[in-house]
Amino acid sequence: MANRKILILGANGFIGSSLVWKILTDTDWEVVGADLSDNKITESLKNPRFKFSKKDIVKDRDWVEEQVKECDTVLPLVAIATPALYVKDPLRVYRLDYEANMEIVKMCVAHRKRLIFPSTSEVYGMCPDEFFDEYKSNLVLGPIEKERWIYSCIKQMLDRVIWAYGNHEGLQFTLFRPFNFIGPKQDDIKAPQEGASRVLTQFSHNIINGKTIKLVDGGKQKRAFTFIDDAMDCMLKILENKGGCADGKIFNIGNPYQEYSIRELAEMLVELVGEYPEYAENAKNAKIEIVPSEDYYGKGYQDVSRRMPSIKQAEEILGWKPATDLRTAMKLTLDYHLLGKDYELERAK
Ligand code: UGA
Repeated sequence: MANRKILILGANGFIGSSLVWKILTDTDWEVVGADLSDNKITESLKNPRFKFSKKDIVKDRDWVEEQVKECDTVLPLVAIATPALYVKDPLRVYRLDYEANMEIVKMCVAHRKRLIFPSTSEVYGMCPDEFFDEYKSNLVLGPIEKERWIYSCIKQMLDRVIWAYGNHEGLQFTLFRPFNFIGPKQDDIKAPQEGASRVLTQFSHNIINGKTIKLVDGGKQKRAFTFIDDAMDCMLKILENKGGCADGKIFNIGNPYQEYSIRELAEMLVELVGEYPEYAENAKNAKIEIVPSEDYYGKGYQDVSRRMPSIKQAEEILGWKPATDLRTAMKLTLDYHLLGKDYELERAK
């Protein structure tokens, strides 16, 4: 495959760190990465095809523009993506997720670079469709006072602007929409910010530390969980872009075969943690409490009761299908955090 130089902003994030690893192990491409820290990419840093710099995309704008010029493909993965923060600090979300990222979109337009941009499953909001379709589903958001939707709305606007740049000014782009990715390196199980981590990290932390699991509004809401490794296979196909198949397209990246309610997720996790002798006692004594969403997140929160991706686009155009069930995904994640076992390193051997 022709050599490529890919810029990943947010290289130390959950998706960023996993993608850097995937590219370095499965291709011969070069990667230029930037982030505020590098704790999740220690192995990748050893690879001479990976050039990493500690940079802030807001403060180091000129540096970012230089890299955009040098690379052929740009993935701006820096964003706040935790629902508690949408409600607590919506303006921080707006400044980083919207303003800072829009700058980078414009750089890609100005320098004629390929842009692969993270949209989100959140853009569908409270869409009633059984399967969310990239081209047909309506994007349904709540009232303004429900501040949770600021993230969704920002991402939708970015999607629309990128789409327009593609149609009217020739920007080469692909939008991808992650659906509840889970896996090692998401948030830190040992030190989640209480109420500010995504659900799997929060529940794992609570179980291993003997704290009560809080089921928001009873936990009937459902999510379809996607193992990060499956997701990275899909990302690589988007990056490869055989015959330009991903250009100007939107792809849901999700696992419609692994839909569970949040209560089911909690119960399965308690069972799995019970298999680790060091934490078996805490798992046996795990308690589940139901809390109203207003108490847990605040007044500006509104939930999504069901979020199911259609992955027809990814299946038909990219030839991708997710392969990992939730139980296996959680087990690999727990092995990483509780036993220090890294499946990525094992596989790369
Ligand atoms: C998240 C984030 O918005 C984004 O990271 C991302 O775009 C999207 O998922 C995605 O990955 O598709 P959400 O699924 O609502 O949205 O986030 P979680 O924090 O993982 O919560 C899932 C569900 O668990 C929610 O219904 C929440 O109320 C519930 N929850 C969360 C609890 O019951 N207890 C907790 O302690 C934490």
